[in-house]
Amino acid sequence: MRREDPEIKGRPVTQGAAPVTATATQDEAVLQISDLSVTYGARVVLDQINLSIRRGELVGIIGPNGAGKSTLLRAIAGLLRPDRGTIRFARAHGGTPRASRAQAQLGYVPQRIEMDPDVPLRACDVVGLGFDGHRFGLSWPNALKRQAVDRALALVEASEFGQSLVGRLSGGQLQRILIAQALVSEPSILLLDEPLSSLDLRSADAVVSIVDRVAHQSGVSVLLVTHDMNPLLRAMDRIIYVVNGRAVIGSVDEVVRPEVLKSLYGYDVDVVRVRGRILVVGDEEYGDEANRFHHHAP
Ligand SMILES: Nc1ncnc2c1ncn2[C@@H]1O[C@H](COP(=O)(O)OP(=O)(O)OP(=O)(O)O)[C@@H](O)[C@H]1O
Ligand SMILES: [Mg+2]
Repeated sequence: MRREDPEIKGRPVTQGAAPVTATATQDEAVLQISDLSVTYGARVVLDQINLSIRRGELVGIIGPNGAGKSTLLRAIAGLLRPDRGTIRFARAHGGTPRASRAQAQLGYVPQRIEMDPDVPLRACDVVGLGFDGHRFGLSWPNALKRQAVDRALALVEASEFGQSLVGRLSGGQLQRILIAQALVSEPSILLLDEPLSSLDLRSADAVVSIVDRVAHQSGVSVLLVTHDMNPLLRAMDRIIYVVNGRAVIGSVDEVVRPEVLKSLYGYDVDVVRVRGRILVVGDEEYGDEANRFHHHAP
């Protein structure tokens, strides 16, 4: 089976679109998820997911509320134990995905961050919290840490408010600081859960430019959950579409097609392209979730 084939529960979906990058080799995979299932009690939240993520690609994860997007990121981050299946990582410097999560180095920004507006921390202090003991050791010299914090702040274009109290930052500024915190220990995989939500178009666009650079210039594989794929279209390499705990991965052209989405949703879904935007419009009766994209259009 070609790796570019969209997969549903391990079965290739047959359709004719050409893959975006036809020459990727197995060696480029930094993350390999096989047959991953997660249940909460009796409820199956992720159902036999198969995905492979390449080095330096930007992948959008989209799907309706409750689909399992955050659960997928949390499973990759090692925050929950899968009921079955495996998640394998490549070492930071390459090779097949056989290394442990710690060797791969992950950066993770969860969907909800509680940030006390009165906390007496500057933005740069929050970025510095991203150092973890095992890689840098507690004895890592402060000067080196400061340099790494400065580099991370520069990467997310946040140097100018690095000294500001974190409680005073705007939503877009805070999001960039949290990304810098996740980047400070130089991860090979960056997991961002809804970093664009509650940002206006301009701030969302700034974050997209940042992850574009982080993936395509720094070679970090970025998995970014978003409700609206449109802000990401200019930058993302592939999309993971999650519905009801099942996932399909491929290029936007491969995945965002009525026949593929129907196989996920279980009912007819229209894909409307208008002025460079893609709207997924569900059936009136059942399609509230798919319709979110419609309602989110400005
Ligand atoms: N700790 C938990 N215990 C029990 N059920 C949970 C838990 N976390 C999530 N769920 C359920 O699992 C399903 C998937 O949740 P998840 O948070 O992964 O969805 P999501 O796709 O991220 O949704 P959203 O777009 O709203 O963030 C939901 O039905 C949710 O209620
Ligand atoms: Mg979520």
